[in-house]
Amino acid sequence: MNRYKKQIVTVFALGLLLSGCNNTPNQDISTFKDAFAGKFLVGAAINVGQIAGQEPKAIEIVKKQFNSVVAENCMKMENIHPEEEVFIWEEADAFVDFAEKNNMHIVGHTLVWHSQAAPWIFVDDSGEDVSREELIERMKNHIQTIVGRYKGRIDGWDVVNEAIENDGSWRESKWYQIIGPEYVELAFQFAQEADPEAELYYNDFGVSGRSKCDGIYHLVKNLQEKNVKVDGIGLQGHLNFDIPKISEMETSIEKLSSLGVDLMVTEVDMTILPWPSDEVTAEVSLNYELSKEFNPYSGGLPDSVYQQVMDRYTGFFEMFLKHHEKISRVTFWGVHDGNSWRNDWPIEGRTDFPLLFDRNYRMKEGVEDILEMAENWETK
Ligand code: XIL
Repeated sequence: MNRYKKQIVTVFALGLLLSGCNNTPNQDISTFKDAFAGKFLVGAAINVGQIAGQEPKAIEIVKKQFNSVVAENCMKMENIHPEEEVFIWEEADAFVDFAEKNNMHIVGHTLVWHSQAAPWIFVDDSGEDVSREELIERMKNHIQTIVGRYKGRIDGWDVVNEAIENDGSWRESKWYQIIGPEYVELAFQFAQEADPEAELYYNDFGVSGRSKCDGIYHLVKNLQEKNVKVDGIGLQGHLNFDIPKISEMETSIEKLSSLGVDLMVTEVDMTILPWPSDEVTAEVSLNYELSKEFNPYSGGLPDSVYQQVMDRYTGFFEMFLKHHEKISRVTFWGVHDGNSWRNDWPIEGRTDFPLLFDRNYRMKEGVEDILEMAENWETK
């Protein structure tokens, strides 16, 4: 359990004692962070416009509902370290200031990833791949400069994102091609040196797939065997309307928790739109053409579909509650439907309904049942 979770659990337990109502369900259910207190943190990804004050109603939701935040884009390499000698701190600093001011748990996302990397990092002046030694040196500088700047302020880092393919094999990213599989352990070591107190996570999508889950299990086990500090695994929750089955994610949670690390369900959103390909992934470079058939709800969502989405969301949260001792945090990827990346990925310009707050910043009908279930959840 991380230090932030311990604090929350203590405050929650004290609250229950003081109110003398340990067994009485709270009738005044209102927010995610209160309803899930004592179980796990609940967070959201926020974007630079929101942090800059351009969407006060979204920020109101964040402050009221959540106790953890992650920056949607501004800490990714292409934004924070776009050229070798250039670090751009303004947006990341504003994000960390905002979170601290509001006493929130802070996640840094993400240090080493094949997507949204800055192209300079892999090549020399003539455009050729740099040597293994040079890339290790550049990666070290990247990680240590960023983690060092926020030392003691960021609670946990997504150190490596998406190193494993759906079939469980290594992703042939530039990191892997140039450095080899050791790039993962080196990244964790560099992060630990820069902030020994910060929690360090491996984060990936599609973890409900058996082969991928096995691949991640072995990756983390291998790190542990080499005494590399890895505190948690983030299971990205980019859900589809029908994939994965709740039981598939549950099996992965059970398997990965046997490694003795914290699990986090990160990046939760649920698209209800048709998926344009045979393979379901969260590869951000996908970009299919917009057509009417793939954008069926631009005029609004039929009640029957809405109900199915809420039922599926409720089922996932019920499973998370069942395993709350293994799960330290659940984080939504965005605040409300209007600003979710799902509207533009993997097809630009669609109307999706993936989150639990609508385009008018209202909590969706039925969410109160999820909160009530959490409030009344008894540890078996
Ligand atoms: C997404 C952002 O939401 C988009 O705004 C951006 O254009 C692409 O990246 N997995 C991750 C996140 O780890 O960083 C990605 O975020 C979604 C998939």
